[in-house]
This record gives sequence, C-alpha cells and structure tokens, in this order.
Amino acid sequence: MRGSPAGGGSRVAESAGWEELPAGIREAVERETGEVITAEAAGGGNGPALALVVRTKRNGPLFLKGVREQDVAGASRLELEERVNKSVAGVGPMVRHRFRAAGWYFLAFIRVEGRPAELGPDSPDLAAIAFTLRRMDELRLPDAPVPLLAERFAGHIEPGEAEALAGTHLLHTGMDPDHILIARYGGQAYVVDWSRAALGPAWIDPARTAVRMMEAGRPPADALGWLAGFASWQAAGPAAVKAFVNAMCRYGTATAGEQGAAAANARFRTLLDAVPPGRPGSGRLGRSRRGPGGSADSGRLTRG
Ligand SMILES: Nc1ncnc2c1ncn2[C@@H]1O[C@H](COP(=O)(O)OP(=O)(O)O)[C@@H](O)[C@H]1O
Ligand SMILES: [Mg+2]
Repeated sequence: MRGSPAGGGSRVAESAGWEELPAGIREAVERETGEVITAEAAGGGNGPALALVVRTKRNGPLFLKGVREQDVAGASRLELEERVNKSVAGVGPMVRHRFRAAGWYFLAFIRVEGRPAELGPDSPDLAAIAFTLRRMDELRLPDAPVPLLAERFAGHIEPGEAEALAGTHLLHTGMDPDHILIARYGGQAYVVDWSRAALGPAWIDPARTAVRMMEAGRPPADALGWLAGFASWQAAGPAAVKAFVNAMCRYGTATAGEQGAAAANARFRTLLDAVPPGRPGSGRLGRSRRGPGGSADSGRLTRG
C-alpha cells in the first residue's frame, strides 16, 4: 500500500495481508519477532488461516502461520504441527516463535528460501527428495500424541484395514510439490506443513510422493522404479498397501465423484501391482502390529 516490500530504509511492511491485520495482532507479532520490515502473503493458506513471509529487522525472514482460535480444526492442526516440530528437525524448518494473541494462534518458522519441488519427468529434484524421505524414515517420535493414519482415513476405511495400516513411523501424509521446498542454496529438500502428521508405516510418504510424480507426468514405471529404491517400500506388506490404496480411492471418490476421481484412483492402483514380495509374513499384519515375520516397523514401537 504505502510502500513496496522492496522499498528502502523506512518501515514498509505494507504488502498483502500485513496492514490489513488488526493492530493488536501486528503488535503481538512484533513483540515476539522484533520489528517487521516487510511482509508478503505466502502461497496456500486455506480459509481463515494466515500465511505470511515477514522480514524482521533482527531475526531475518520468518514464515508466519496463524489460525483463529475459534477455528477449532485449524488450531488443532497447528498444535499438531507445533508438537512434531522438534522431531522433524533438519527435515522441516524450525519453529522460532509460538504465541497466541487477539484470538489468534501463531507459529513463526525459519523461512526456507527456495522453490516448490518439481516432480515431473525432467525433475532435477528426485535425489534430494529421496535423501530427505530417507531421513524421514528415521524421525524420532514426539512425546506428545500424534493421530494414527487410520484415524485420518475415518469414514473411508473398512474393518481390518486400520490394523493393516498400523505403524509407528512419523509420517507427513501430504507430500505434494507445495510442501517440498528445494532450498535455493544447497538444494536440500525441506518438507513443510506437518499439520497432518500421523503415525503409520514408513513407506506411506515415499509411495504418496511416487503417485504425485505420476500426476506430474512421470511415467508410472519410472515413478515406481524410484519408489523401489526405498527399503521401507521393499518391506511393505500387500495387505497394508491394499488398505492404503482402497482408503485413498474411497476418499477420492467421496470428494470428487466416481468420474472426477477416476484418473487419480488409477494412479493409486498402480501401487497394487508394484508391491514387492517383501519378507515372509510382512503382508500378514491384519491382526497385530507385528506379523509373524516382524513388520517394517519392528523395533520402533516406542519413541527412541
Ligand atoms: N518455512 C517456510 N518457508 C517458506 N515457505 C513456506 C514455509 N512453510 C510453508 N511455506 C509455503 O507456504 C505455503 C503454505 O504453508 P502451509 O504450511 O502449507 O500452510 P497451510 O497449512 O495453510 O497449507 C506452503 O505450501 C509453502 O509453499
Ligand atoms: Mg499446506
């Protein structure tokens, strides 16, 4: 409004969103972060959520994400994101400030300077993404509760499938290009927006990423070949893969209709034919967390 984000010297902080915020919120933010020099709206942010990149005088650029406290579902997702933040250190950006003010709840993250990942046929990012996914395979669990993947599929899952999807790895579950940022310097793939984290089998995030690759135009055989490089996928049980594909397809059909979901559902079904033979017993996890041969999650049943 009165100045551009690039405007020199004087205090600008006028761009999309900031000046429209009530003074009480701006003051609360600046109490935490120090003076804000510029602010610009960041992508995403559904509904009443607020997402800004703010440049602060003392603390550099931060990604500020806020929800109204009265948005119970949104606030609960942000709380989950706060709870898992320490566990995802090195993979996702650190929370620098957390505060509640004027009816809002905010997290301020270190800002990742980068671009959304490319997942299509000519993507230069696949190695960086695979490296990050392998680190995600080893994340420590937070002390605080994290929902089970099966709970996230509530309404789209049939008896027995929830047990097949049991697992004790911390998952992101929303691996799409907007949530994988490739750092401008160094090229590391950072995974942001852990607001839908869940506990489940480790192969879920790599498999979801492979399906996104197909959506971005990568031939299924290539995407599945990339997925085959993950030890977690090699140990995936057919019953669990089937439960995941079924749940995703039912969810897709419920939200987009039979026709609207057909292409996406077909991409998910490619996973069924790609399930590796795995270890003996790895597909028979329907009754317990550990099958007779031990599951992909053996030994990770508690935080450690
Ligand atoms: N720490 C960050 N640094 C830079 N950009 C980010 C950061 N976190 C998220 N973003 C960008 O902002 C977008 C919205 O953030 P996100 O956390 O996904 O919010 P929402 O919960 O509203 O989806 C992301 O898709 C990503 O492009
Ligand atoms: Mg998001």
